[in-house]
Amino acid sequence: MEASPLSSLPFLLLLLLLSAAGLLSLTSALSDAETVFIARRQLLTFHEHSGDLPEDFEFGVQIDTPFPNQRLRRAYIALQAWKHAIYSDPSNFTGNWSGADVCSYAGVFCSPALDDPSLTVVSGVDLNGADIAGYLPAELGLLTDLALFHINSNRFCGIIPKSFSRLVLMYELDVSNNLFVGPFPVVVLGLPALRYLDLRFNNFEGALPPELFDKELDAIFLNDNRFSSYIPENLGNSTASVIVAANNKLQGCIPTSVGKMTSTLNELVLLNNELTGCLPLEFGLLTNVTVFDASFNALTGVLARSLAGLAKVEQLDVSHNVLTGVVPEGLCRLPRLANFSFSYNYFKGEAEACTPVPRSEVLFDDKSNCLGSSRPNQKSAKECAPVISRPVDCSRSKCSSSPSRSAPSPKPLTPSHKPSPKPIQPPKPTPKPSPKTVAPSPKPTPTPSPKALATTPTSELLTTTTTTVALLLSAAARMMTSTTTHFASSTPHLTTSSSTT
Ligand SMILES: *[C@@H]1O[C@H](CO)[C@@H](O)[C@H](O)[C@H]1NC(C)=O
Ligand SMILES: *[C@@H]1O[C@H](CO)[C@@H](O)[C@H](O)[C@H]1NC(C)=O
Ligand SMILES: *[C@@H]1O[C@H](CO)[C@@H](O)[C@H](O)[C@H]1NC(C)=O
Ligand SMILES: *[C@@H]1O[C@H](CO)[C@@H](O)[C@H](O)[C@H]1NC(C)=O
Ligand SMILES: *[C@@H]1O[C@H](CO)[C@@H](O)[C@H](O)[C@H]1NC(C)=O
Repeated sequence: MEASPLSSLPFLLLLLLLSAAGLLSLTSALSDAETVFIARRQLLTFHEHSGDLPEDFEFGVQIDTPFPNQRLRRAYIALQAWKHAIYSDPSNFTGNWSGADVCSYAGVFCSPALDDPSLTVVSGVDLNGADIAGYLPAELGLLTDLALFHINSNRFCGIIPKSFSRLVLMYELDVSNNLFVGPFPVVVLGLPALRYLDLRFNNFEGALPPELFDKELDAIFLNDNRFSSYIPENLGNSTASVIVAANNKLQGCIPTSVGKMTSTLNELVLLNNELTGCLPLEFGLLTNVTVFDASFNALTGVLARSLAGLAKVEQLDVSHNVLTGVVPEGLCRLPRLANFSFSYNYFKGEAEACTPVPRSEVLFDDKSNCLGSSRPNQKSAKECAPVISRPVDCSRSKCSSSPSRSAPSPKPLTPSHKPSPKPIQPPKPTPKPSPKTVAPSPKPTPTPSPKALATTPTSELLTTTTTTVALLLSAAARMMTSTTTHFASSTPHLTTSSSTT
C-alpha cells in the first residue's frame, strides 16, 4: 500500500521513544516534541501545504484485492493511510484494521449509500476515547460517504486536512479533546450538510471566521481553545441552539445581533473570555434561552430591565465582571430561574427579589458587590468608589465589536480603576476536564441501544425528518459508542463523554 509510506529512520526512532515512554510511565500524554514531530510528519505527507488531495489520487494507488465497489476501495485506501499515520494505539483499537472488509474494522460503520442504496459504503467513523496518537492524513478525504466523524478524546495532532472539503455528507464532526493546532479549520465551513461542530479542548487559535455563524449549524462548541478575535458581528445569524465559546480569549462586545436568535438559541456560554462593553439590550429578546453564562469577562454597565424578557432562563451567570447599578426585580422573578449569580461585580443595589435567602428554590449569589453593610461579604467603599462614581452609559457607549467599526476609544467602556476586572485566580467555573474525566472508557461495550442513540447530539438536535436524516440515524444507531453531550449542564460543566450503554 503506497499511500503513506512511513519507513524512515525518524519514524522508527519515535516508535522506540513512544514504547520506552510507555514502559516508563503510565501516562499517555505526548510531549511537546512528540506533538511537533507528528505534526511535521503530517505536513510532509501533504501533497500541498494544507492537505488537499489530487482529484485522481485514488487511481494512482495499486491494490490487488478486489472490493465490492469503488467507494469501499477508496475507503480502504483512506483507512490504511490513517493506520500508517497512527503512532500510538495503547488499546490496540485499530489492531484489526487490515484486509478488504473495511466495514468490520473497529470503529468503522457502513450503511447503504444515500445516492445508491445498492452500494454499501463507510458512513461513520467513531474512535471516541481510543487515546490514539497520530495525525489525520489527506487520504481521509476519500471517505466521501462519511456522515459522522467522531474522534473525541484522542491525541491527534496537526491540522484538519483540506481534503475534508470532499466530505460533503458530513453531518456531525467531533474532533474535541485532541491536540489540533492552527487557525480555525475553515475547511469545515464548506461542508454543506454539517450540523454539529465540536472543536472544543484543542489548541486552535486566532480569529473566529464570520462564516461560522452564517452556517446552518445546530450546535457549535469552541470552548477551551485559544481563539482570540472579536465575536463576529453576524453572531445572530446563527441557527444553533447551543453556542459554547468559553475559555478562549475573545475580545470586544457581544454583538447586538445576538437578539436575532430568539427562536433558536437555547444555551450561550461565553465565560472566561476578555469580553467588554455592555450586555446588549437585544439580549432580552432571547425568550428561548435556558442557559446564559458570561461570567469571568470584563462586561460593564447595568443589567437592563429588558433582560426580564429571558422568559425561560434557568441558569444565569454574570459574576466576575464590572457590572454596576441595581439588579432588576424582573430578572430575579423569572419563572424558570433556578440559579442566578451576579457576584464579584460592582452592583450598588439589588431588588428584594434578588436577595439570597437560605433554602429558597432559587439560588442567588450577590457576594463581593457594593451592596454596603446590609449584605455580607461586600467590597469596601474604597474599592467601589472608583467604579461606581463613573457609571457607564450603555445607551451611549457604541460598542466596538469589530475592529473595522469606527470604534470610539474603548476607554469609556472599561473602568479606570485598578481593581482588576479579570479573575485573579484561575477561574473555576468551567472545570477544565482533565483528560481523565473527559476521556471515555477506551473499551466501549458494543451494544447499541435506542437509549444510547437518544442521548446522542444527533437525535437531540434533529429538527427535520427527511429520508437523508433517517438514513443518517440508522448509521448512527450502529455506532458502538456515542458522543453524549450534556447540553443542559454544558455550563459550567463542559464535558464530552462517551456513553457505554
Ligand atoms: C492487536 O490486535 C490484533 C488483531 O486483533 C492482533 O493480531 C495483535 O496481536 C494485537 N496487538 C497487540 C500489541 O496486542
Ligand atoms: C474488529 O473489532 C471490532 C470491535 O472489536 C469487531 O466488531 C470486528 O468484528 C472486528 N473485525 C475483525 C475483522 O476482526
Ligand atoms: C448575516 O448578518 C449580516 C449582518 O450582521 C448580514 O449582512 C448578512 O446578510 C447575514 N447573512 C446571512 C446569510 O443571513
Ligand atoms: C422556542 O423554541 C421552540 C422550539 O424549541 C419554538 O417552537 C418556539 O417558537 C420558540 N419560542 C419563541 C418565543 O421563539
Ligand atoms: C449555580 O451557579 C454557580 C455559578 O454558575 C455554580 O457555581 C453553582 O454550582 C450553581 N449551583 C447549582 C446548584 O446549580
